[in-house]
Amino acid sequence: MEHKIIRLELSDYEKCGNIWDMQRQSDLAAQLYQRLLSGNQTTFVYTIDNAFIGEVSLVRQMDDPDYTIPDRRICLSRLIVRESHRRQGIGRRLVAYAAETAKQQGFCELSVGVDLDNYAAVRLYVQAGFDRILFAGEDAYGRYLKLLKTL
Ligand SMILES: CC(C)(COP(=O)(O)OP(=O)(O)OC[C@H]1O[C@@H](n2cnc3c(N)ncnc32)[C@H](O)[C@@H]1OP(=O)(O)O)[C@@H](O)C(=O)NCCC(=O)NCCS
Repeated sequence: MEHKIIRLELSDYEKCGNIWDMQRQSDLAAQLYQRLLSGNQTTFVYTIDNAFIGEVSLVRQMDDPDYTIPDRRICLSRLIVRESHRRQGIGRRLVAYAAETAKQQGFCELSVGVDLDNYAAVRLYVQAGFDRILFAGEDAYGRYLKLLKTL
């Protein structure tokens, strides 16, 4: 089986429906399309024999200055692995790939926001080197952390 990480082209964005339910989460699907269109986001897709299995994005400019600082800090966003393929190291590989790409693009910090009750994701990020807590707080969705990794 051929495993690859590729950059998502706008024309292929509907294929992410193999990873998550784009019809039920139509607001997120629209957001993905708009962010890709604007060039503010780059999305990487994990493929197995060309099937879309996982996804992660880098966002250059966010409204919250904790998350992005021009030419210095970029934000990791929307990490997700198809449910049937979790616990196989795909999430970890996607984060490592995004971090390496951000570094090659000249960024020296990578931020991420994560819900405190998302144990799997918190654990993954800590293992991946997100060792600074920028902020711990609460929003409408619950308690969350903003984490930082030095690249
Ligand atoms: C979080 C998510 C992306 C992890 O992807 P994955 O491919 O299953 O993760 P990996 O197999 O690469 O696991 C890497 C590490 O993450 C942690 N982890 C992943 N899933 C876990 C789980 N169910 N329970 C505990 N730890 C978990 C572990 O530390 C794991 O390392 P280990 O296998 O050596 O113990 C996946 O569970 C997912 O898509 N969740 C829904 C979307 C989401 O919550 N995204 C994060 C938004 S911030």
